[in-house]
Amino acid sequence: MRVLVIGSGAREHALVLALRRDPAVSALYAAPGNAGIAQHARIRPVDPSSGEAVVALATDLAADLVVIGPEVPLVLGVADAVRAAGIACFGPSADAARIEGSKAFAKDVMSAAGVRTAHSEIVDNPADLDAALDRFGPTWVVKDDGLAAGKGVVVTADRSAARDHGAELLENGHPVLLESFLDGPEVSLFCLVDGETVVPLLPAQDHKRVGDGDTGPNTGGMGAYTPLPWLPEETATAIVEDVVKPVAAELVRRGSPFSGLLYAGLAIGSAGPAVVEFNCRFGDPETQAVLALLESPLGELLNATATGTLAKVDAPRWHDGAAVAVVVAAENYPDRPRIGDVITGAGDGATDESAAVLHAGTAQREDGALVSAGGRVLSVVGVGADLAEARVHAYDRVAAIKLPGSHYRTDIGLAAVENRI
Ligand code: GLY
Repeated sequence: MRVLVIGSGAREHALVLALRRDPAVSALYAAPGNAGIAQHARIRPVDPSSGEAVVALATDLAADLVVIGPEVPLVLGVADAVRAAGIACFGPSADAARIEGSKAFAKDVMSAAGVRTAHSEIVDNPADLDAALDRFGPTWVVKDDGLAAGKGVVVTADRSAARDHGAELLENGHPVLLESFLDGPEVSLFCLVDGETVVPLLPAQDHKRVGDGDTGPNTGGMGAYTPLPWLPEETATAIVEDVVKPVAAELVRRGSPFSGLLYAGLAIGSAGPAVVEFNCRFGDPETQAVLALLESPLGELLNATATGTLAKVDAPRWHDGAAVAVVVAAENYPDRPRIGDVITGAGDGATDESAAVLHAGTAQREDGALVSAGGRVLSVVGVGADLAEARVHAYDRVAAIKLPGSHYRTDIGLAAVENRI
């Protein structure tokens, strides 16, 4: 099977590494990829948001399967274009990707499916902002009602900070989504979905705030771990049965069947799980941890999802133990990051048994030096017999990396190790 992965982050690096372990994958390409992915797959330039360009590349490479990593191409209909060209594609149609691309659509689907989620209101007129804020909070949850890579979210007990964020979004022409605050630890549950067939992967937890102890602004995700020792098996089962399956069925009922990875982000409160958001693709950085423990061939699972035969493949098998992904971010991230700094100690893309350095915002300079090229620069993934050991492996590897001005959280997975969740 010839596979083309679309995207250029550490999530796509993790997908490429897992696909490379699948003996059925005979040729592996990534576009546009990055300096780390280039060690494991042949990379090609492409505009990932252009269906025409992705189809032309997939055709040129005689790809049997195209795997689309990021949400923007999916929301723009790139998967539809690939399928229309007769090539199998892992990733939902633009119609189904509205579960992430349109908060209003997602809320409507959840309501029809009887799924618990936050109460919400959309504000598109600055004159309505104050009255709407009075109907929420504290705590206020103020979101950009569009795709914002996690950075458009402010969760705060400070009304003026909530107001400032809402006003800034409106000034920039973005409608604001206000949501009631959902208490409790968060879970990211990724499910392969092919119509009404739902196959869960290992539950993971992301750490969205930039600083240790969940302080500072929200980011795209500063680290993740899996599995979750504090999450009862029956709760994970309930999420699949009572949340993901009803949503998948509702999408089928609406004539927008989902095919790809449906990511349920939930808060586990005292009244049970409630949905914070759905995403239409693998999450970043959770994927880096989850795929590190996957024993089954990834290509087979993705291809079965893409070709409507997911119900016929065996459930995924997992290695024992745990995995922890730690994001190394550039100076000033999540604000405008400084780029172009030389990175040393990241290795040459080789991985060992206990740790791997996955690339996100990296580039190879003309003189061969590896330099930072984005906010989240690297994801370092440690695996171990348990979470504590996986953390040691991840942080030992992080310590060997030098990037001026960079920062990372030191507490990824720590609350779970110390039974504080
Ligand atoms: N981990 C957050 C996201 O992928 O959106």
